[in-house]
Amino acid sequence: MNRLAEHPVLGTYERGRRVTFTFDGEPMEGFEGEPIAAALRAAGVLTHRYTAKNKEPRGVFCAIGRCTDCVMVVNGKPNVRTCVEPLCEGMAIRTQHGLGNGAVAEKEERP
Ligand code: FES
Repeated sequence: MNRLAEHPVLGTYERGRRVTFTFDGEPMEGFEGEPIAAALRAAGVLTHRYTAKNKEPRGVFCAIGRCTDCVMVVNGKPNVRTCVEPLCEGMAIRTQHGLGNGAVAEKEERP
C-alpha cells in the first residue's frame, strides 16, 4: 500500500527512520514522524475503533484531526487522534472499544 507523503495539517515531511511499534500486540514497522494512521494503513489496518453503542467499526474519515473516527488507545491513553499523532519508536497502539477507558466494557458485562 502507498504511504502518505503530504498531509493537509502536518504538511510535507521527510520520511523518518524505520521504527517498530505494536498494534494490538502484533509487532509492526513504520517511519518515525509519519501519522500513526499512515503506518497502520500501509500495514493494511483500516479499523481503528468500534463505536460504544452499536460496536460499529470506524477508521480514518477526515484525516485532519476533526472527526475523532480514528481515535485509538496509544501507550494506554485513549482517544488519541491517530491521523495527526506522529509515530514514535516502541509505541503500543490498540484498537479502541467504546470510550477506550473500560467503562463501556464493564457496563456491557452486566446482565
Ligand atoms: S480521521 Fe478524523 S480525527 Fe482522525
